[in-house]
Amino acid sequence: MRPELSEYTPIYSGKVRELYEVDEEHLLLVASDRVSAYDHILDTPIPDKGRVLTAMSVYFFDALGVPNHLAGLVDDPRIPESVLGRALITRRLDMVPVECVARGYLTGSGLKEYRAGGAVCGVPLPDGLVDGSRIEPPIFTPATKAAVGDHDENVSFERIVADVGEELATKLRALTLDVYSRGSEIARNRGIILADTKFEFGLTPDGELLLADEVLTPDSSRYWDAAEYEPGTTLASFDKQIVRDWLTGPSGWSTDSETPPPPLPQDVVDRTRARYIEAYERISGLSFADWPGGAA
Ligand SMILES: Nc1ncnc2c1ncn2[C@@H]1O[C@H](COP(=O)(O)OP(=O)(O)O)[C@@H](O)[C@H]1O
Ligand SMILES: [Mg+2]
Repeated sequence: MRPELSEYTPIYSGKVRELYEVDEEHLLLVASDRVSAYDHILDTPIPDKGRVLTAMSVYFFDALGVPNHLAGLVDDPRIPESVLGRALITRRLDMVPVECVARGYLTGSGLKEYRAGGAVCGVPLPDGLVDGSRIEPPIFTPATKAAVGDHDENVSFERIVADVGEELATKLRALTLDVYSRGSEIARNRGIILADTKFEFGLTPDGELLLADEVLTPDSSRYWDAAEYEPGTTLASFDKQIVRDWLTGPSGWSTDSETPPPPLPQDVVDRTRARYIEAYERISGLSFADWPGGAA
């Protein structure tokens, strides 16, 4: 008999995921179907998004070959039936308070910083780059986690050194760039560009540094369809494009409006759901129908 979710003590509720204590050394990480756009958590969930993102994380944890926090299979008997497929058993780590971002393409907050001063997080870049320009070699642009509702703050490498020490900061930078290059190569071979991504690392009681949290999901990464890539245009991310196009177009809502976005119509929900599944299947080469937790 699997336990009920209510048997676990909730310890954290994030924007998209909930954490429960399994025992002193293990956590249950449950991904919801919540989706965010333009800094709002939308009222309309995307069915199966939590399962798709969990499947992607698991695929990459395995494919990357880097020590990570997974501590059980996706059908581990400690996972309640009600969250099967969107929950993972992980080691409980002392999280390093750094959002470890790697960028191989210039866009978003990186582009904003570059336009203001020719550098991102203190890393100088060549002149003449535009939205979507490739950054070669990719750069480490760490951020510190903001409180819920705030943007993460981009900071310099020196700031990370001051926060966590030179030895750990140097390790984080090297690992981040290494994992980014592995992930982007896997995606590139499947026609998808990994523009940038964020990793989180944590320490075991023995001081081992592990890749934690979610990894290379559309929530932590900016994926572009390589077929549509064109520097100088603002590319919508692979997963959010449909939602964003609807919100800024037919919905009548405006991004600088005071009100939250309206509920999504069913066809936008359906097409976005299909998009997430497509991203998973394209990148992993696996079938989402085989992933646990689907309605029988
Ligand atoms: N192995 C782990 N041990 C402890 N905390 C973890 C581990 N993996 C991920 N976390 C934390 O779990 C939370 C995941 O929930 P999420 O919805 O992403 O929250 P947030 O809104 O804070 O990003 C994050 O705060 C992340 O740092
Ligand atoms: Mg998070």
